Amino acid sequence: MGWKTLDDMDLAGKRVLLRVDINVPVENGIVTDATRITRIAPTVADILAKGGRPVLIAHFGRPKGKTVPDLSLRVCLAALEAAFGRKVILAETLEEAEGRPQDADTSDIVLLENVRFHAGEEANDPAFAQRLAALGDIYCNDAFSAAHRAHASTEAIAKLLPSCAGRLMQAELTALEAALSNPKRPVGAVVGGAKVSTKLDLLMNLVAKLDVLVIGGGMANTFLAAQGAQMGSSLQEADLHDTAIDILARAKEAGCRVILPVDGRVAREFKAGADYEMVALNAQTVLEQDQMVLDAGDASTSDIVDAFAELNTLIWNGPLGAFEIAPFDIATMKAAAAAARHTQAGDLVTVAGGGDTVAALNLAGAADKFTYISTAGGAFLEWMEGKDLPGVAALMD
Ligand code: 3PG
Repeated sequence: MGWKTLDDMDLAGKRVLLRVDINVPVENGIVTDATRITRIAPTVADILAKGGRPVLIAHFGRPKGKTVPDLSLRVCLAALEAAFGRKVILAETLEEAEGRPQDADTSDIVLLENVRFHAGEEANDPAFAQRLAALGDIYCNDAFSAAHRAHASTEAIAKLLPSCAGRLMQAELTALEAALSNPKRPVGAVVGGAKVSTKLDLLMNLVAKLDVLVIGGGMANTFLAAQGAQMGSSLQEADLHDTAIDILARAKEAGCRVILPVDGRVAREFKAGADYEMVALNAQTVLEQDQMVLDAGDASTSDIVDAFAELNTLIWNGPLGAFEIAPFDIATMKAAAAAARHTQAGDLVTVAGGGDTVAALNLAGAADKFTYISTAGGAFLEWMEGKDLPGVAALMD
């Protein structure tokens, strides 16, 4: 592990600077998914139970060092208070937080306004980190989903105060470690989504570590086209054919079995309820110009479900088709249900992450049956790519 937890810290009477990620979806001034907020509640409760006084630091959106009123964290206050069962006070400026007497009555929780309103945050500026550090006695990072950013509140500050991981950070790191660094084999992954280009590093890293790699979604089209298939108007990246072939060669060398779709639901329109035919997919496939693959077919889904039965660990990132528009959600739903079944039966460890992925698994009713659902998007991808996450590295002894 190499990092401390709240169990290692004496928090009594201390101000605990708690970095959280409450970068949550908001529509018309209302938080529409409070998952990231509810998932930090145990950390806040633990700090309070140990006599600590939490001061929350968080970002919201990308204001680029300027005060953008629409990106105020005020929008999260009601959801935070509901999750913590306590009053949360927003310190609108650093000066306001600095002016707060250290021994002020603090049954309340303080939340600093969007830390990205300050240019020093994204610049990882030591002077800005120092200013933040002066607001607390201990630093606790519970923002795994922002740990891929080397910012003042995730990186520089950890070197200025006694530091530890919060409960959510601890849970994320433990689950991810069990899934990829030290998994029960055989270990497999589902990597789906639209583009190979956004997941190149990830695919390269995974083929060296996995026993089975399922490639789905639009990116599978690029692999099929690279092998000679004519994919009509299916989403694909023609400039990445050589890369796709290279990834397959690396997988072969490393003994990683790659599962590509052998059939697909092929339509002429991208819309819910569009007519489709089931078409075999292989190097000889020739689709008509206006035909596109919108989902993996039934034979492909069987291949995937059969592969799950052989695995002990499964990592999932990305859908297998256009899951937002039925009936092109079928492969993702069936495969997710199979993974959930194996997990519930106790014979598969399942870890999933990434925005679209969690939305798809929620639709399938599978998310709460998986072993672990990460709150992270970009950080989950960078972790799958095998990169060091600066926010985690900074917590190491
Ligand atoms: C996220 O939503 O993935 C994190 O909050 C990080 O946000 P960012 O991509 O703006 O750094």
